[in-house]
Amino acid sequence: MALKKFFNPSSVAIVGASRTKGKVGYEILRSMLEAGYKGSIFPINPNTETIEGLKCYPDLASIGQVPELVIISVPAQMVPEVMQQCAKVGTKAVIIITSGFKEVGQEGRELEQRVIQIAKQGRMRVIGPNCLGVIVPGNKLNASFGGELPAKGAIGYLSQSGALMAAILDMANANGIGFSKLVSIGNKADINELDIIKALAVDTETRVIVGYLESIIDGNAFVSQAEQISQQKPILLMKSGGTSAGAKAASSHTGSLAGSDVAYECVFERAGIIRCSSIKQQFDYAQAFANQPLPAGSRVAVITNAGGVGIMAADAVEQQGLSFAKLSDETTKKLAAKLPAAASINNPIDILGDALADRYEFVLDTVLDDGGVDVVLVLLTPQAMTEPSATAEAVIKITSEKSAKPVLACFLGASKIAEAAKILRKGKIPLYDATEMAVSTIKAMTEYVRWRTRPKRVIKLFAVNRRKAENIIERYLRRGVREINEEDSKEILEAYGFVTPKGSIATTAQQAANIAQQLGFPVVLKIWSPDILHKSDVSGVRLGLNSATEVMDAFDLMMYRIPKQVPEADILGVLVQEMCGGGKEVILGVHRDPHFGPLMMFGLGGTMVEVLKDVSFYLAPLTAEEAKQMLVDTKTYKILKGVRGEEGVDIDIIAEGLQRLSQLVTEFPQIQEMDINPYVVGRVGTTAIAVDARISVEQS
Ligand code: COA
Repeated sequence: MALKKFFNPSSVAIVGASRTKGKVGYEILRSMLEAGYKGSIFPINPNTETIEGLKCYPDLASIGQVPELVIISVPAQMVPEVMQQCAKVGTKAVIIITSGFKEVGQEGRELEQRVIQIAKQGRMRVIGPNCLGVIVPGNKLNASFGGELPAKGAIGYLSQSGALMAAILDMANANGIGFSKLVSIGNKADINELDIIKALAVDTETRVIVGYLESIIDGNAFVSQAEQISQQKPILLMKSGGTSAGAKAASSHTGSLAGSDVAYECVFERAGIIRCSSIKQQFDYAQAFANQPLPAGSRVAVITNAGGVGIMAADAVEQQGLSFAKLSDETTKKLAAKLPAAASINNPIDILGDALADRYEFVLDTVLDDGGVDVVLVLLTPQAMTEPSATAEAVIKITSEKSAKPVLACFLGASKIAEAAKILRKGKIPLYDATEMAVSTIKAMTEYVRWRTRPKRVIKLFAVNRRKAENIIERYLRRGVREINEEDSKEILEAYGFVTPKGSIATTAQQAANIAQQLGFPVVLKIWSPDILHKSDVSGVRLGLNSATEVMDAFDLMMYRIPKQVPEADILGVLVQEMCGGGKEVILGVHRDPHFGPLMMFGLGGTMVEVLKDVSFYLAPLTAEEAKQMLVDTKTYKILKGVRGEEGVDIDIIAEGLQRLSQLVTEFPQIQEMDINPYVVGRVGTTAIAVDARISVEQS
C-alpha cells in the first residue's frame, strides 16, 4: 500500500534517542519497545553506548544497513544535517518530530524548506515536522510519544494537531476503541492530509477515515479526490479555523455573507464528508461506521425496557427526520405470542422493566427479520432485575448470526452497566450514553448512504455567447478596473441567457422624462456612478415613478443630494429603467474562495439580504438537483412556493439561473464576486428579470 514504509517498516532508527526519561527521544524509544515492535530498532545518539539495553549508534551510517524508517528527534538546527545522513544511507521514509519550523515564523519556514529540499533530492518522503508520530497497532508500531499503543481496529485517524491526537489516544485507550492507523501530520511540509486520506482509502484494515484538520493544502485536488474516496469509505472530519482570506475585501452581498466557514461546509457537502463538531461526536459516529454495516434505509426499530427512554428515542427519531419502522403483522404476532400482555409490541417496543436477557434476545432476533426494519436501537436501563452483561452477550450473539443490519446500543447508567459496556465494545456493538447521540449516529449513517446513492452528477451546459462576455471582461482587466459597471454586467448576463430590464442613461431631467415616456410608466431611476456600489445606501434608487413630472423631480433631487453626500464620486447621470413588478425578489450570487473556487449563493433578495441572512451556498459547478436543493435549503423557499393560497413563482427558472451563473463563473476564473440582486421571478410562464447586477473581476 501507499506509504508502506511508514506503516510497516522492517527497521526503525531513532535519531536523538535519549538516555533521559521524560525527554521526547527517550519516550519514542520506550513506546517502540513497549508496543512490542518486531523489526529492528536502532537508537542513534553519539553520546552514549546503549539505551534501555539496546546498542546505540553515533550516526545513521554506522548502523551498516539502511533503516526503512527514520524518526528524527533532535533540535531543529540539527535536522538538515540528519536529513543529509538519511539521504546518504538511502532511507526513503522520515518522520520529523522536532518543532521549531514554519510554525515559529520566517526563519523556521526557511529551515523547513531546506529540509524538504534535501528530502526531494534524496527521494525521501517526510511526515511532519512538528508532529507526534505514527502508530499502527496491527504492526505493533508506536513511532510516537503520544502514549500507549491502542487496540487494533478499523478506524484510520489523521490529525493536524499532535496534542489532540494525544488526547484521542488517551480517550480511546480508556474506552477500548481500536485503530488501523494513527498519523500526526504536523506541518504537512511534504506528506499532507490528502496523501494520508488516500493511503487510508486503499488500506484494507481501515473501514472509516477520521481526522482533525486546520487547513487544506490543495483545495481542488481535495474536493475531487475526497469525493471519490467517500464513495468507498466514509470520511469523518473535524475542522477548525476558517479561510479568513475568503471573506476579506468583499464588495458584494455574497462576499460578505460567505463567512470564513462556508467554503468548508460546501466542500464537505460536495465530497460527502461527514463533519463533526466534537471529539465525542466524532467517535460516537466512528464506532458505528467502523463496526456496523450501513443501513439500507432510515426505518428505525427501538427495543427498550423503559417507557420514558423509549419516548426520548422516539422524539430524537422524529427531530432528526428519521422514520419509525412499521412492524409487519408477522412480527407483531410473533412478539405478542411471547411477550407479557403489558408489553408494547408496537415500535418503540417496550419489553418492560423486568425484561431479562432472553427477552431482549428474542425481540432483537424477531425484529431483525422484519423486512420493514433498516436499523435497530437497543435501549437498556439497569433496573432491579435487569441483566446488563447477559443482555450485552445476547445482543452480540444475535448480531453475529444476523449481521446484515446495523444494531446500536444505548445502555444508560454507570457502575451497573460498566461490565456490559466492555462486553459490547469487545463485540463491536456501538454503545451510546444518550439516546440523542445514538439516533444522530443513525442519522449520520443514513445521510451518508443517501449521499453515496445520489444520482450521478451531470452538469448541464447552456448555449451562451461566451465571446461577448470575454470581450467585456478583458476590456476591464486591460484597464485595471475591478468593478464592472451595471450596464456591462447586464450585457455579460444577457450573453449567458438572462433577461435584464430595458433602460438608458439620462444626463438631464428632460432626457430622463423622454426615456421614461418611451419605456412606458412606471419606471425606476438609479444613480449612475462607477464609484457608488450600493446605490440604495445613498438614496440612489427611486422606484415606481408614474409620470414625466415625477421622473424629473426625482432626477433633480438625486443630482442635488448625492454629490453632497459623496463628493468624491464621479456621477455620470441617472439610469432610467423599466419597472419590473409582480414577482418575488431573490438574490443569486457568487463568491470565489481562494482555495476551493466559486461558491454559489441563493437567498431572499433586495436590501434585506444581509440582515435576514436567509441564504444557502454550494460549490460550483452546479447540477440541476444541487441548484434546486439550494432553494429548498432556505426559508425563502416556502415563500416562493406560495403561502396561504397565494400562487407560487417559477422555481425551475431560479434553479436554471443558478446553473447559468455557475457556468459563467466556471468559464471565467477572472470573476471574483457577483450578485444578481434582485432577480425578479414571477409565476410559471413569465420571464424572470435580472434587475440589478454587480460583477468584480481580477486577473486569474
Ligand atoms: N544525532 C543523534 N542524537 C544526538 C545528536 C546527533 N547528532 N546530538 C545529540 N544527540 C542526542 C542528545 O545527546 C540527546 O540525548 P541525551 O538526552 O541522552 O543526551 C538527544 O539527542 C536529544 O537531544 P537534545 O539536545 O537533548 O534535545 P531535546 O530532547 O531537548 O529536544 C526535541 C529535541 C526534538 C524534542 C525538541 O527540539 C523539540 O522539537 N521539542 C518539541 C517536540 C514537539 O512538541 N513536536 C510536536 C509534537 S505535536
